[in-house]
Amino acid sequence: SVTKHYKFNIRVKNVTRLCRTKSIITVNGEFPGPRIVAREGDRMVIKVINHVSNNITIHWHGIRQLRSGWADGPAYITQCPIQTGQSYVYNFTVTGQRGTLWYHAHIAWIRVTLYGPIIILPRQNESYPFVKPYKEVQIMLGEWWNADTEAVINQAIQTGAGPNTSDTYTINGFPGPSKNCSSNETYRLKVKPGKTYLLRLINAALNEELFFKIANHTFKVVDADANYVKPFETDTIYIAPGQTNNILLKTKNLSSNAKFLMAAGPYSTAASGTFDNTTVIGLLEYDVSVSGAKNSSADSFNIKSLSVPPLPRFNATAYVANWTSQLRSLGNSRFPTNVPQTIQRRFFFTVGLGTNPCPKNQTCQGPNNATKFAASVNNVSFVMPTTALLQAHYFGRGKGVYTTDFPKNPLVPFNYTGTPPNNTMVTNGTKLVVLPFNTTVELVIQGTTILGAENHPLHLHGFNFFVVGQGFGNFNSTTDPTKFNLFDPVERNTVGVPSGGWVAIRFRADNPGVWFMHCHIEIHITWGLRMAWLVMDGKFPNQRLPPPPADLPNC
Ligand code: C2O
Repeated sequence: SVTKHYKFNIRVKNVTRLCRTKSIITVNGEFPGPRIVAREGDRMVIKVINHVSNNITIHWHGIRQLRSGWADGPAYITQCPIQTGQSYVYNFTVTGQRGTLWYHAHIAWIRVTLYGPIIILPRQNESYPFVKPYKEVQIMLGEWWNADTEAVINQAIQTGAGPNTSDTYTINGFPGPSKNCSSNETYRLKVKPGKTYLLRLINAALNEELFFKIANHTFKVVDADANYVKPFETDTIYIAPGQTNNILLKTKNLSSNAKFLMAAGPYSTAASGTFDNTTVIGLLEYDVSVSGAKNSSADSFNIKSLSVPPLPRFNATAYVANWTSQLRSLGNSRFPTNVPQTIQRRFFFTVGLGTNPCPKNQTCQGPNNATKFAASVNNVSFVMPTTALLQAHYFGRGKGVYTTDFPKNPLVPFNYTGTPPNNTMVTNGTKLVVLPFNTTVELVIQGTTILGAENHPLHLHGFNFFVVGQGFGNFNSTTDPTKFNLFDPVERNTVGVPSGGWVAIRFRADNPGVWFMHCHIEIHITWGLRMAWLVMDGKFPNQRLPPPPADLPNC
């Protein structure tokens, strides 16, 4: 293993999409951001220099950050923001992971344009547990707003209502030919016939779960969130914000050039249907010439003459449930499934929407006329501190910054999937759960249907977890655990909690630090669907969090 150095200059850049030019925040002027490549075991040293007027932090989504919590990146959780003109070096080692992850800004809504892929290759001399691909390609799905995104979120916060939806989804930053002037803004993937391509698929969208499909082709899924899975065939990928999948695409044995469309579109159970229900289109282009000399992008053709592959309906919940149930960890002797078999601490969390009162002297357009939208875990809507929790904890200054009384169960149980309680108000606080080092945890997350049937793709920092069960309706603590998969559950860092359903996960708290857990739908984070775990140091030196780096920003 080696040390790899990267420099991220955070700069604004003018970019034209959907016929308008807009100034966006980028890494090194690139949108999406540059890819960073590691081999398992490598140390990554990434210097981030902030040249914009906004505060910045960057999160390395899915990286385990074993004893390197100072490099995790969520603002006010593990670090204070990097202020204008300042820099910070993220320093971490890639341990026990291989596949695709990604990085994104982790402050306000800046991740809308500040994101990029993390490619983790197997160790030198190690191979993939599947056919060696001819080529590897990253496919990043995103969202684009014509308006300034910070203005969109600020307006939502001020009115207490839902935010304006995006103007288009994107594939590798391109919206495709959804407007006449945007047909040159189409992502094109050139392929050779009869080859296997490894597609590294990332859902970087702010607020939408997505389906992805290529007309007349099928995929083999081999990896989820940088963990190998038992391969399975599918023609449509379901992917929630934050999630990644490695998928194999075997191209057809064609003898003449051909073009096919790829498409991504939303999965949403929200009853109101307030979302961008358009489909983003990209192009798969076969090039059968031996040398590849002919430039097929010069071909004149009408992209609208190609047929858009039919995606599942936007509310195809049965498809999604069936699709996710096919994800099983590879679980062989080389890559064993280390799901905790005995559990020391059990938790039951509800996740869902709720309300806060409308502040005096403000007019709110939120639910029930005069409230603001809120979101919560166990009815606690997390209040962002003004200093970083990890620093406060490490230097023994936690008092007045956070409390450690996060409830292990909902305080007032109710029928989570039936008639919601009359009182939709949440309580507000910066509450953590404290876990002794190495605790084995089982967490059942129940999605409520209060104020809208929304799914919540839940992301845990600092750990992978095993998805041992999922179901619809209210979780039954007597009968449902008997059906848990403790043999080959998928291991990942983000899992979709179904609206009016539940998932059960297990993990081992072997990483000391403060670890954020939140819905990866950005508006739900904003509304407070977030909490944090405080994992204490262990007895031995190699079980303790080292001191912070000297350049750690102050608030
Ligand atoms: Cu990908 Cu806390 O985020």
